[in-house]
Amino acid sequence: MALNMEFEHGEIQKENIRFDDRVAVITGAGGGLGRVYALELAKRGAKVVVNDYGGPRDGAGAGSSSAADRVVTEIREAGGEAVANCDNVATPEGGENIVRTALEAFGTVDILINNAGILRDKSFPKMEPENWKAVLDVHLNGAYHVTRPAFQVMKEKGYGRIIMTTSAAGLYGNFGQANYSAAKMGLVGLMNALKLEGEKYGIRVNTVAPLAASRLTEDVLPPDLFEKMQPEYVAPLVLYLAAERCQDSGEIFNAGMGCYNRVAILTGPTVRLGDGADPPAPEDIHDHWDRINELSGAVPYKDLNAALGAFLTPPTQENAAGPAVSETGLDIGAVFDRMADSFNPDAAQGVDAVFQFHISGEAGGEWYCEIRDRACTIETGVHETPACTLQMKDADFADMMTGRLAPMAAFTSGRLRIEGDVMKSRLIETLFTIG
Ligand code: NAI
Repeated sequence: MALNMEFEHGEIQKENIRFDDRVAVITGAGGGLGRVYALELAKRGAKVVVNDYGGPRDGAGAGSSSAADRVVTEIREAGGEAVANCDNVATPEGGENIVRTALEAFGTVDILINNAGILRDKSFPKMEPENWKAVLDVHLNGAYHVTRPAFQVMKEKGYGRIIMTTSAAGLYGNFGQANYSAAKMGLVGLMNALKLEGEKYGIRVNTVAPLAASRLTEDVLPPDLFEKMQPEYVAPLVLYLAAERCQDSGEIFNAGMGCYNRVAILTGPTVRLGDGADPPAPEDIHDHWDRINELSGAVPYKDLNAALGAFLTPPTQENAAGPAVSETGLDIGAVFDRMADSFNPDAAQGVDAVFQFHISGEAGGEWYCEIRDRACTIETGVHETPACTLQMKDADFADMMTGRLAPMAAFTSGRLRIEGDVMKSRLIETLFTIG
């Protein structure tokens, strides 16, 4: 808390989130949500490229520069810096031009908000290819066209904040919006890939699902709600995602009317069926349908490797029930005692190694385990020459050693970090009966 506060004029104030020297590109910023993002970013020091193709809500016909120009005038009149761009995000050239506008006017791109959007709602049988294509071209392909050149700039400079705009229609489904729902979920897939590709270049990619009064929602929302749904209530979350201090990446947030929450793709616990030699029958699936559908204990995974690692190495049924937590809380010393009791001398033939355990959290500490002459000694403290060091949170370690968390899943999900001889660490699974 203290870090976020500073003295100013004798008062303690929250440290401002500022965007001085940052360049923000906002697509579809000639009205609705994008306009407010542009105004708010400019108020906090950002130099802003206000992109808007203009044109009607369904994206038909020629564009117009007036919407973008109006917002630029507003920003300048309020003392901010902005330039207009009226390219169409739906074409690769349009995307290139938007980023070029930022480079020519301000020299770089730090923030990109993919916000441009149109609607062409129809029930599915009536959704002709041109309606399908127009919506995918603006929302999904548009984000691709603008993000690709912007990503290149961000990668070179080692910094970037990208925000995608999804929708409740895509996240949860909405009648008559098959094109829009598909495009909006496509953006979540795009984010999922870019959060990984951008990670080591300081590029963070997140997604907002806004709820706000605009020309896109004026006929679908009840008028009394419409009044209370100003875009200004969405903007704070989007500005936070655009800020340097936001280190999250790959997350989705609902935002509107002063309410905010996180949306995640969760994966339930794996159910392993069959004897391993033959595939199970459809009847087995039916018999275990409730368990397969179970979401208690579901978790979000960082990437495909983490998810598939956990999927393919579920804890065994017998192991899954092991107690990890005593009634008074975690007792990691007791977990190590159980580990020592489960030592398997036959598996230790020829093994001469020390494993250091660095357990974080309230119940954590340092332990090391020495295997020599087919015997195992576990001590508290730090060994000088361990073969490898395993780092885990106390609860995760307890879960792993009681069979609730598969070691491979712990490793691939980043919950188990190993320094030193990683291959040797894999001996732990055979040296001890985990569970
Ligand atoms: P809006 O219609 O006021 O703003 C969209 C802007 O995008 C318009 O100014 C339009 O001219 C511009 N645009 C359309 N096609 C373009 C293109 N090809 N190239 C460049 N600009 C283009 O609508 P609103 O509500 O502000 O929507 C912003 C974003 O938020 C959209 O992506 C929309 O799908 C999304 N959204 C909005 C919700 C809401 O409650 N308002 C709900 C869920 C998502």
